[in-house]
Amino acid sequence: MLRVAVLVSGGGTNLQAIIDALEAGRITNAEIIAVISNNEGAKALTRANNHHIPGMVMSPKNFKDREAFNEAFTAKMEELAPDLIVLAGFLVKIPEQMVKKFSGRIINIHPSLIPSFCGVGFYGLKVHEEALKRGVKVTGATVHFVNEGMDEGPIIAQKPVFTEKGDTPEILQRRVMEQAEWILLPQAIDDIANDRLILEDGHVYKKQEELS
Ligand code: GRF
Repeated sequence: MLRVAVLVSGGGTNLQAIIDALEAGRITNAEIIAVISNNEGAKALTRANNHHIPGMVMSPKNFKDREAFNEAFTAKMEELAPDLIVLAGFLVKIPEQMVKKFSGRIINIHPSLIPSFCGVGFYGLKVHEEALKRGVKVTGATVHFVNEGMDEGPIIAQKPVFTEKGDTPEILQRRVMEQAEWILLPQAIDDIANDRLILEDGHVYKKQEELS
């Protein structure tokens, strides 16, 4: 059983998609052991509570400096000892020591087709604003492993979503969630829980027998 910790900051719709997929059997061999938020008002914590999943707050605001936070955060994760850490809209940079300790066991969902519209400053609505400003016809979402860089780790899966005339950043954000994020992230967790992924030379492949 893959023990999963989900890190969140806000609405928690991706967390909800994971919970729903677990309850529907679309993710097997996995369980959520904790939901950790940097923001105590996050709706994601209510969602965790509704499903009897332990929720906790880990915020840089509650520590004297970033180094103290990084140490405590890493220690907390070591104590929880998850097999997989899922960043589902988590807005705090993962401490380098945590990335090292959980190397190959942290994944993130990003609401664009990496390497477009990603990296420092590209979070929330900004990603969709920039995509619309550039006039792209296709955007989407990406699930990737987390390394020391920002949105730079090996790509696990991507799903395209078309932009439409009249899109606002809010409309596009919602479509990317519905058509890509809420499908892709549970699938990636199911693939990891069922050992369907191979990491080779920094690239991720799905095991051959699982391809349809
Ligand atoms: C999602 O768009 C995710 O891709 C990004 O942050 C947003 C989180 O939304 N990293 P939610 O909290 O899951 O509703």
